[in-house]
Amino acid sequence: MSDKIIAMLNQDLEGEHAAIIQYLVHAYAMGEGEMACEIEAIAREEMRHFDWLAEAIVGLGGVPSIKRGDMRTGGTAVSNWMRNDVKQEVDAITMYEEHIKAIDDRKIRRLLERILSDEKSHRGSFEHFIDKAKREGAKDLRGSRQDSVTKILDWGVEHEYTVVLQYLLHSYLTPNDEPKEELQDQAINEMQHLGWLSEELVDSGGSPRIEHTDINQSRKTADMLRADIKIEKEVAAEYDRAAGEIDDAGLKRLLLRIRDHEVYHIDIFSDLLAEEEG
Ligand SMILES: [Fe+2]
Ligand SMILES: [Fe+2]
Ligand SMILES: [Fe+2]
Repeated sequence: MSDKIIAMLNQDLEGEHAAIIQYLVHAYAMGEGEMACEIEAIAREEMRHFDWLAEAIVGLGGVPSIKRGDMRTGGTAVSNWMRNDVKQEVDAITMYEEHIKAIDDRKIRRLLERILSDEKSHRGSFEHFIDKAKREGAKDLRGSRQDSVTKILDWGVEHEYTVVLQYLLHSYLTPNDEPKEELQDQAINEMQHLGWLSEELVDSGGSPRIEHTDINQSRKTADMLRADIKIEKEVAAEYDRAAGEIDDAGLKRLLLRIRDHEVYHIDIFSDLLAEEEG
C-alpha cells in the first residue's frame, strides 16, 4: 500500500511543481502590480504544498520526484493565462479528491484535505482574475530581446532553478538535521535569485524561460555537499565574470549581490562537509 501512496503523492508533487512554475511565469510576465503579487503569493502556497508532500513521501520511505507535471503557459492575453490557471487548479482539485478517496492513511488524507481546501480557494482567485485582467488591461510585458545581457540573465535563471531543485532534493534526502535545515534555507535564497533575475529579464525586454539542467541525485550527505560546493564555486566565478562584462550599474550590482550569496553558500556547505567528514 505504501508504494501506491508514494506514487500518488509523487503525482501530486509533480502537479504542484508545474503550478509553481506556471504561476511564476505569469506573475513575472505581468511585472509589478497587485495582481502579480497575489499570483506570486499563490505560487508560494504551492511551494508549501510541495514541501509538505515531499516530506510525507520521505516519511513513507519514498524519494520525492523532481519531475514537473504539464504546464499551461500558452495564450497571449492575460485573461487567457488566468483561465489556464483555473484549469490547473481544477485538475489539481480532481486529483486530490481521487487520492483522498483512494488513501486509507489518516494523516496523509488529512494533509491532502488541507491542500485541497487551498486549491479551491486558488481556483476562486484565478476565476476572479480573469475579469480583473480584462478590466485593468493587464499586459504581457515580456519582449524578444536577445543579446549578451539577456544571455547572462537566461543562464542565471537556468542555474538558479537547477539549484533550487537540487538543494531541496538534498534537504529531503539527508537524514541529518543541520544539512537539512541549511539546504532548505539556501534553496529559498536561490528561489529569491530566480525571481530577481526573471524580473530583471522582463524589465530588460527579454522573456524568462524557466528550465533547469541536470540535478545531482546523490544519496550520501557528503556526496551531496561536495556536488553543491562544486556548483556554487562554478557559478560564483561566472557571476563575477558576468558582472565585469556588464555596463549597466544596477544589473552589475545585482549580479555581485547574488555572487556574494553564492560565496556564503560555499562557506556554509564547506563547514557542513567538514563536520560530515570529521
Ligand atoms: Fe497546491
Ligand atoms: Fe493551487
Ligand atoms: Fe543563486
